[in-house]
Amino acid sequence: MVICGTNLFSSLLPYVHVLSSSTSTYCSQCLNQSNDLKRCSQCRQVFYCSVSCQRQDWIYHRHECAHLPTLTDEHDLTRLFLRLIIRYRNDHGIDNPPTKRQLNDLQTHENEIRHDRRRYTTFQSIYQRLKQWNIVDDFDENLIFQHFCRLVINTLTIHDPIDLKSIGYGLYFDATIYNHSCFPTCHTIFNGKYLSVRTIASESVDGWTINYIDLLETYKNRQEFLRENYYFNCQCKRCLKNDPNELFLLEKIHYNEQQMDKSISNTDYPAAYQSSKNLCQYYDQLLPYYHAYVSLHHVKHLKLELLLAETISHLIIQSTMETTCQRVQISMGGDHPLTREAMRICEEYRLEMTIKQTQITS
Ligand SMILES: *[C@@H]1O[C@H](CO)[C@@H](O)[C@H](O)[C@H]1NC(C)=O
Ligand SMILES: *[C@@H]1O[C@H](CO)[C@@H](O)[C@H](O)[C@H]1NC(C)=O
Ligand SMILES: [Zn+2]
Ligand SMILES: [Zn+2]
Ligand SMILES: [Zn+2]
Repeated sequence: MVICGTNLFSSLLPYVHVLSSSTSTYCSQCLNQSNDLKRCSQCRQVFYCSVSCQRQDWIYHRHECAHLPTLTDEHDLTRLFLRLIIRYRNDHGIDNPPTKRQLNDLQTHENEIRHDRRRYTTFQSIYQRLKQWNIVDDFDENLIFQHFCRLVINTLTIHDPIDLKSIGYGLYFDATIYNHSCFPTCHTIFNGKYLSVRTIASESVDGWTINYIDLLETYKNRQEFLRENYYFNCQCKRCLKNDPNELFLLEKIHYNEQQMDKSISNTDYPAAYQSSKNLCQYYDQLLPYYHAYVSLHHVKHLKLELLLAETISHLIIQSTMETTCQRVQISMGGDHPLTREAMRICEEYRLEMTIKQTQITS
């Protein structure tokens, strides 16, 4: 039996990936954060942490470098699709080392996309563009279209390992087996461009699931978004239940998230702590206990509590430290940067307490 906090996959490499154009502090190749990024001297639009990363990306970048300054729309998807075509040319969609799934195994939703005006137009304009760049000459348009479909249906959003903000997109063949649920039993964890799929529940009857979309959306928005982008009606247990109280809960969550951010930027920590406490309670009513989004909040909550340590009982702090470390450990794994950060904060606090104790007793 698989238990909660198990990696079903660890350190998967993407077949292709791209850094989102809206980010600027990450290496375009390894997706690590760096303060010392070097710019491509020709297009001046793409950044790398090292010569080795630049070299690895050059097999793709050399086809786009001259064109990037004129690329105004669908920046990320164009670059990701270009990478897919270039790579396919060399290996026919078979990854090395071999993955369980290959490019041709992936779902296309080809008919739906052909009849989806918005997406079909996007395909046409990207296809024309790649034709002008001499990327697709040797392929039949229908094959290119099918690969486009596979890409848009199966691509995952890549997140920063610590703040979980979206930084890019990647196609991971072996992660495409997971269906979506609005109350998932697994989540995706990234370290640079490496992906792990980790269980956040004990073995589930409906198979392992991840979330393709934001879990803090309403029933209506979730259904719409999944239909428009993935062409299915979600029938997960949360959607089947369609609890009318969920709307109120979501409103309270959004309100408290805003208040918490506002209070933090005004350095009003007692107010931020109160909102944060509400959120701890609300998240557990809606989201899986060990979901990364919730764990990240608990680490923030612990930091706030320690900022206010003078006004909070030692027993409460002790208990928050314990539950936070346990939560983040199962959620993210022992060697994840967020877990290490939580451990470090607790260690610092304990050390401080010990010093105070010795000062009192001596
Ligand atoms: C990216 O970061 C990871 C983890 O911090 C490290 O192991 C890896 O070597 C880094 N990659 C590069 C290319 O610097
Ligand atoms: C995903 O859903 C499909 C269709 O509903 C099902 O056939 C498949 O077994 C599911 N996959 C997993 C991994 O649960
Ligand atoms: Zn790099
Ligand atoms: Zn360039
Ligand atoms: Zn659902």
